[in-house]
Amino acid sequence: LPPGARVHTDAEARDRAPRRYRRAVLDTRPRRTFAVISHPDAGKSTTTEALALHARAINEAGAVHGKGDRKATVSDWMSMEKARGISITSAALQFDYRDHVINLVDTPGHSDFSEDTYRVLSAVDSAVMLVDAGKGLEPQTLKLFRVCALRGIPVITVINKWDRPGLSPLELMDMIERQIKIRPTPLTWPVGEAGDFRGVLDRRNEEFIKYTRTAGGATIAPEQRLGADDVSDDDRLVWEQAVEEHELLALDDADHDQERFLAGETTPVMFASALLNFGVGQLLDLLLELAPAPGPTEGVDGTVRQPTDDFSAFVFKVQSGMNSAHRDRLAYARIVSGEFERGMVVTHAGTGRPFATKFAQTVFGRETTSVEHAYPGDIIGLVNANALRVGDTIFTGPKIEYPKVPSFAPEHFMTVSAGDIGRFKQFRKGIEQLDQEGVVQVLRSDLRGDQNPVLAAVGPLQFEVVEDRMVNEFNSPVRFARLDYQVARLTDPAGAEALKGMRGCEVLQRSDGTHVVLFTDNWRANATARDNPEITLEALPAGG
Ligand code: G4P
Repeated sequence: LPPGARVHTDAEARDRAPRRYRRAVLDTRPRRTFAVISHPDAGKSTTTEALALHARAINEAGAVHGKGDRKATVSDWMSMEKARGISITSAALQFDYRDHVINLVDTPGHSDFSEDTYRVLSAVDSAVMLVDAGKGLEPQTLKLFRVCALRGIPVITVINKWDRPGLSPLELMDMIERQIKIRPTPLTWPVGEAGDFRGVLDRRNEEFIKYTRTAGGATIAPEQRLGADDVSDDDRLVWEQAVEEHELLALDDADHDQERFLAGETTPVMFASALLNFGVGQLLDLLLELAPAPGPTEGVDGTVRQPTDDFSAFVFKVQSGMNSAHRDRLAYARIVSGEFERGMVVTHAGTGRPFATKFAQTVFGRETTSVEHAYPGDIIGLVNANALRVGDTIFTGPKIEYPKVPSFAPEHFMTVSAGDIGRFKQFRKGIEQLDQEGVVQVLRSDLRGDQNPVLAAVGPLQFEVVEDRMVNEFNSPVRFARLDYQVARLTDPAGAEALKGMRGCEVLQRSDGTHVVLFTDNWRANATARDNPEITLEALPAGG
């Protein structure tokens, strides 16, 4: 077997293989690693649960989306974990479907847009975008589509909540085309308008997939596949309308084209109701059929790792304080190539030092508590990985380093100081930790010292997270003071020197050494650039 291949799950392997062969039993099952993304309330948690239900990773839906207090919990997945007694890391949900392994990577669920989402999306091969049939494209839908385009992530679009009154399907297609500038290529088309969801027309074989409701949408919705001749009189009228629109779409060059989808020019569309579990099976099947498998990845120096090469992975999320019983710090890494084996010693690309992986935490499993093996596309949570930061690469074999996830332009700036000076040590430690996790960018200067660093955020909610964690986790209340800056630019050491003391701007440094210049407004930033052409002033990509 080639490296990176395995034929059974760990549990099966343990049962079946004689001891001396155990390590050679590899998992060759293909992976699909993706994220469900949407504007808040479009149905991300409901869909996640419906997918797990359909893949039979859980037995019954409803405990999560039937609960009024769900929003109050730390993360929807955590409440799901409690409700179901299943084990989920807050980073990824792993389950089997048909002969595949599905890795559903969680994205931050809060309504404010933050850099987390961008970083997490660096760990997926594709995305499922949910659109609320009643609301159409919402601000975050547009932003997320932009991020996917920027990162070259192919997107499958799901028009959700079709069981409720909403826009017409053709209108929705038109919105996607005009506002996102990506061609929608529906694979299914609704039979029955929004609010009267009878089923869908499978556009590739012109069959009618008729859905049946189950009590409260708690179990998998039974479906029937019917030929055009078998459509009942009751459904005849709405079926004929669907057929007519389907033919219109075909004439309009709106049929699926795999190459254009992978190039990000088109988005396959399907219609669903996550709440009723309608269309969920089709979505899983589409993921297997169309979504890209983990592929080759290019390092900063242009060398490329194939999934079958030596082990390599990059960290896309660092989290601590999930377990109040002990100080844990987890670094979540996405495996790019090779096989991960618990306990293996890898090299940390940034420092060149060896790094021994002690434990890797479980993903979605019934009883597993630690990952013994993992493969390209899988997400592992490395325990007590204090040396690892977001963006770091770990590898075995020849050196490889993957590009860092770009940081986005902060637009909100505050100074932060210890609310209780007697707790300065805790304050310093907390700020350092949050900086490493990338919760917020921490900017420092000799002038401001350690007592008064500047926090820079893409969205204001990031400050709330800082406040909450500083109080609850690091036992250090904080005081914020708003700064009158709106714009950040990057510069080099020479630029930093030249700009020191200039009016209307301040030069600070990130912990990675990058010099950041803050300006009161765009006008001043542009004027400074114009008047000092010799100074490097680089804008960051817009996050909001
Ligand atoms: P989010 O994670 O994207 O924020 O969305 P979430 O799944 O929490 O869903 C938001 C609301 O939309 C929930 O209702 C949920 O039940 C509902 N919903 C999700 N999918 C569908 C669907 O396909 N059809 C219909 N009709 N509703 C759907 P809620 O009232 O906020 O909460 P709850 O009290 O019903 O749980």
